[in-house]
Amino acid sequence: MHARAVAATTTALLGTAALLSPVPAARAGDVGRLTVLAHRGASAYAPENTLAAVDKAAALGFTWVENDVQRTRDGRLVVIHDDSLRRTTNVEQVFPGRAPWKVKDFTAAEIARLDAGSWFSRAYTGTRVPTLAQYMREVEHHHEKLLLEIKNPELYPGVERQILEQLGDEGWLDRRHRGRLVVQSFSADSLRLVHRLRPAVTTGYLGTPSAATLPRYAGFADLINPSVGSISAGYVRSVHSVHGPHGRPLRVLTWTVDDAVTAWKAVGYGVDGVISNKPDVVRAALRAS
Ligand code: G3P
Ligand code: CA
Repeated sequence: MHARAVAATTTALLGTAALLSPVPAARAGDVGRLTVLAHRGASAYAPENTLAAVDKAAALGFTWVENDVQRTRDGRLVVIHDDSLRRTTNVEQVFPGRAPWKVKDFTAAEIARLDAGSWFSRAYTGTRVPTLAQYMREVEHHHEKLLLEIKNPELYPGVERQILEQLGDEGWLDRRHRGRLVVQSFSADSLRLVHRLRPAVTTGYLGTPSAATLPRYAGFADLINPSVGSISAGYVRSVHSVHGPHGRPLRVLTWTVDDAVTAWKAVGYGVDGVISNKPDVVRAALRAS
C-alpha cells in the first residue's frame, strides 16, 4: 500500500485517542498519528541511555525518548539497560576485582566515575551513566516526553514507589506533565503497583499477552507494548478493542523497529507507535511517497 494511504488508514483506525497526542510533525517525529519513539534515546547514534542520546533524539526532532531505570547499592536511581555495568561502561578497567559488575553492587559515586561513552565511539569518551534526576532534567530541557521502563524490578524491592517519588519531586506527576510520561515494565506486578500507587500515571505492559487475557492487563495498563515480531493486525485489533484503566482503548507501541520494511509492517498492523534505535530511518521511510 502507498505510504500516505497506509498512514491515512492507520489514522482512521486509531480515531482520536490523545494520550500519545501528535504535536507538529517537524518537531515530534510523528508520522500521521503514528508516534515514533527514540529507544534508549537515539541509541544508534549516541551511547544508549545517556544524556547524549537524549540530546541526539531532540536534535533529530523526536519528542519521545525511552529509557531503563535501575538502582545502585546506595539506593540511587540510575539510567542503564543491563543489570551489569560491563557492556556499556569501562567498569572492568576501573574496578577489575568486582566481577560480575552488577549495577546493584556499585554506589552512585563509583558509577559516576565510569566512562559510558567510549565503548560506543571515541567521540563520546567521558560520557557518564546518568542518574534519573539528571536524565529527567535533560528531557525537560528539551521539552521532550518520556517512556520510562522499570528494568529488572525484582532486583530492587520498592523501586516503583521510589521512582514515583522522584518523578513527583521533579514535577513530572503534575498536570503540566500529563501526556508526557508513560511508565512501562515487563513485570505485570510492578506495573500493577505503579497503577495502585499513582492511578493517574499512564502505564504500558511490555509483552504480548494472549487476546483472552487482555482484559486482565487492562485493569492496570493503558498500553500493551509487544515486540514487532510477536504481533499481527488481528492482535492489534484485539488490543484496541479493550478499554484500559482510564476508560480509553488500549494502545500499542511496538519495538524495536529500525528499518523501512519493518516500519511498514508495523504501520500495516495498525500500531499507535514504534520504538526505534533509528527513529529518523523510520520517519524517512514512512514519509516517503
Ligand atoms: O521499549 C521497549 C524495549 O525497551 C524493551 O526491551 O530490552 O530494549 O529494554 P529492552
Ligand atoms: Ca527498555
